[in-house]
Order: sequence, then structure tokens, then C-alpha cells
Amino acid sequence: MTNLPLTRDQALELLKSMPQLPSDMNHYLESEAIMKALAEKLGEDVEYWGMLGLLHDVDWSLTREDWTEHCVKCVEMLKEKGFDDEFIENVQSHAYGYDEIPVFKDKERSKRIQHALIASETLTGIIYAYALMRGKNISTMALKGIKKKFKDKAFAQNCNRDLVREIEKAGLEVGEFLELSMNAIKEIKGEIGLE
Ligand SMILES: [Fe+2]
Repeated sequence: MTNLPLTRDQALELLKSMPQLPSDMNHYLESEAIMKALAEKLGEDVEYWGMLGLLHDVDWSLTREDWTEHCVKCVEMLKEKGFDDEFIENVQSHAYGYDEIPVFKDKERSKRIQHALIASETLTGIIYAYALMRGKNISTMALKGIKKKFKDKAFAQNCNRDLVREIEKAGLEVGEFLELSMNAIKEIKGEIGLE
């Protein structure tokens, strides 16, 4: 059941009220699109999963230079907007395990939605980089191509493949996840500067 204090438009307003890089904004929208498609596929709450994708990096513009506060600063911001502890914990879960963020270093994701979020937000980087390599074209991108790029560790090497593989803990095969995500991003190509 959806229990969200902001509409999608209000969430977008919140993001736009901070100094965002275009590439960051694209990343939020891509994460949202994949999370919504995943929720639909897995029979979960599409609106809630989408909101989590959209806002998972809500404090990124304020923490970009100093990672130690990433997903820490967000608590106050989200509370002020009326989000509950569960939503905030789900947001924070995508920072679990990072050495750079001491409070999350030893934490582990436990919920399906948390595995889905980390997998989704990590995969956006691979798909976008591949589209850029193809002259911004995503319309004719094929599953075979994205699978190849996924296996090629030298490609978009900042995108940790193990984190993408966490999708299996959410109950989906990686191949299926790559296809679903690529298609979800094709749907919003116009909003993120792709063709
Ligand atoms: Fe992110």
C-alpha cells in the first residue's frame, strides 16, 4: 500500500530546488524508471518503488564533494517532507557497505526493495555509458549488446557488477533484469537526452 507524503511532481520540485548536474538528474529519472518496471514485474507497489528510485540520492548534490555524509544528510530532508523511517531506511540502504561512509560500512541490505534499488541505480551507469558510446542512441540498443558490456569489466568500470547482481536476491535473473532495465530507459529516452 502506498504511503507517500509527496506526489511525483513535488519530488521532482524538491530535486530541482537543489543544484543538480544534468547527469545526476538523468540518473534519478533512470533509477525511477527501472524501479517502476521492476515493481510491476515483481508485483510490488509501483508508485512507492518509483519514488524510492527518484529520491534515493536526494542529498547527493550536497554530499558529492564529501561522501561521508551521503545518505546521512537525507534523513532530515526526508523527515521534513513527511517520509517515514522505513522509506528513509530504504534510501540509506543503497549506501550500505561503502568504506567511505563509516556509519554504513558494516550494514547489510535485507529487503527485496533494497536489493532492487542498489541493482537498479548501479545499472543505470552501464546503460547510459553504452548509449553514449552509440552516439546517444538507445532506441535500437539490443539485449545482446548490453549483456556484452555488462560482462566487460573494463567498460564503465565504476559500476560494480556485484551490486547489479544483487537483483538475484530480489528474485530476478540478471539477464532478465538487463532487458527490463534497458526497455524502461528506452521509454524515457527523451527526458534524459537520448535518442
Ligand atoms: Fe544513485
